[in-house]
Amino acid sequence: MPTVSVNLKDCSYDILVEQGVLHRAGELIKAAGIEGHAALITDANISLHYSDIVKSSLQAAGYKVSAHLIPPGETSKCMDQVQLLSRSLIEQHHDRSSFVVALGGGVVGDLAGFVASIFYRGLPCVQIPTTVVAQVDSAIGGKTGVNEPEGKNLIGSFHQPSLVISDPDTLLTLPDRVFHEGFAEVIKHAAIRDADMLGHLESMDPNNKSVDPELIARNAAIKARIVEEDEREQSGTRALLNFGHTVGHAIEASAEYGTLLHGEAISLGVRAALYLSEKVTGLKASYTERLLALHRHWNLPLVLETEISNDAIHTALSRDKKFKNGKRPFVLLCSPGDAVLSEEVTHDLINEAIDHIRTPIEGSVAA
Ligand code: GLY
Repeated sequence: MPTVSVNLKDCSYDILVEQGVLHRAGELIKAAGIEGHAALITDANISLHYSDIVKSSLQAAGYKVSAHLIPPGETSKCMDQVQLLSRSLIEQHHDRSSFVVALGGGVVGDLAGFVASIFYRGLPCVQIPTTVVAQVDSAIGGKTGVNEPEGKNLIGSFHQPSLVISDPDTLLTLPDRVFHEGFAEVIKHAAIRDADMLGHLESMDPNNKSVDPELIARNAAIKARIVEEDEREQSGTRALLNFGHTVGHAIEASAEYGTLLHGEAISLGVRAALYLSEKVTGLKASYTERLLALHRHWNLPLVLETEISNDAIHTALSRDKKFKNGKRPFVLLCSPGDAVLSEEVTHDLINEAIDHIRTPIEGSVAA
């Protein structure tokens, strides 16, 4: 089975990627040496398809399991749900010898991972991501947390999972929009670290949800190497993963959570970042065109059409937790696969970039 190891001294773990591996979750968790009472956290949509499979597999491996449901959607990534889930775990008699299984997309993974990080001062967490975003990005690297009205992920912790189990077959049941938004993160990986992947993404059929496990593993490995270099986002390497996310997160927060999917907001943010890259780091316009065409190919929006004002986006930007001493390092591209952190992006330039992403592009989806 394609396996990607994340080597982090005391908290190293494996990412297992295989079609159908969901059915073997219990035995694989046992083989990873994880013991105790399992708290299976998922959302009502995922539960319909996959809860029983994972629960039966855990029980067959000898685990006692309690199931905990959250409502689907970004609005569940909040402190109220942290409290509700924690109460639910207490009621089901979980304690420090338990472990959490996060079954779902980015919302479930971030929320359940955060609960695992604080419940009884920290439980092991197994991530079983079921969306593209989660399999290539959010389930890996230990960032957990919840949103506040002022911004994304403002409350959270670093809590590395003990194991990640990715089954590409779970992508087959995703709604089109949710499937496509994940490719914003895949394209991001290609843009910042793996330009050779671009041709492959251009040749894929965006209507075919049967994704090669090797593509998931290739992206998991990009994320894993970056996390190994800079686990706590201190040296600047991990910050490169925020390409497109500075403006993207601000748009996502300004549009009210759930209006735009995460990957859709990131697609808009990437267009802004490409504009800024041409201005500041001299990125060639032909590369911008190629990346924008790839976003269009994956049905991702590139034109900001909502009523969000530049001021609202700036207010959300100023609350971004990555601001230090009033400055916000901005991820820009120099050339394919080569990203840098720049301190040269001013307020005025960001305004220009936001105006730019309001201009129509022929053939592009608007959001
Ligand atoms: N999703 C960005 C990171 O994990 O650092």
